[in-house]
Amino acid sequence: MEALFMQIQSFCIVALMAVGIYVNKRRKLHVKIMSLAMIWDVALILQIELSRSAILKASKAMDNALALNVHVSIAVSTVVFYCFMIYTGRAVLSGNHSFRKRHRALGYTTFILRILTFVTSFWAVAPKA
Ligand code: HEM
Repeated sequence: MEALFMQIQSFCIVALMAVGIYVNKRRKLHVKIMSLAMIWDVALILQIELSRSAILKASKAMDNALALNVHVSIAVSTVVFYCFMIYTGRAVLSGNHSFRKRHRALGYTTFILRILTFVTSFWAVAPKA
């Protein structure tokens, strides 16, 4: 039950990020939406940490260490990419156009990583049969 609630939030974050990319030309709105998505994602990680024992008890995560490790590694990489996004995004805003291409490439990479985090969460915390 707890895992499902987290996965619903995870889906909303992916959807929010898709909207944020769609409106990237409206810079102020893009920054607001992306900031909200990143803050919500970090808050989600905290919620998962706090209810960790309940999730591990109710799921197969303990029997499938590989799936959990893959999922956590992708999730951690995503958060590292958020730092790159903030750095390159701020550089573009301050008029440094050489960062635009980098921000774009890192942006699509971050988005793909975030989708993979969502997808692998189903594999990592499948409910116990
Ligand atoms: C997870 C976070 C983020 C993702 C996935 C993301 C992704 C993107 C993508 C794909 C573009 C389109 C680039 C292009 O086609 O030229 C873009 C543009 C842009 N982003 Fe981000 N972004 C993120 C966060 C941020 C943040 C935090 C800032 C500012 C602090 C920012 C500022 C900008 C700016 C200024 C543009 C250029 C818009 C234009 O061409 O006028 N982004 N972003």
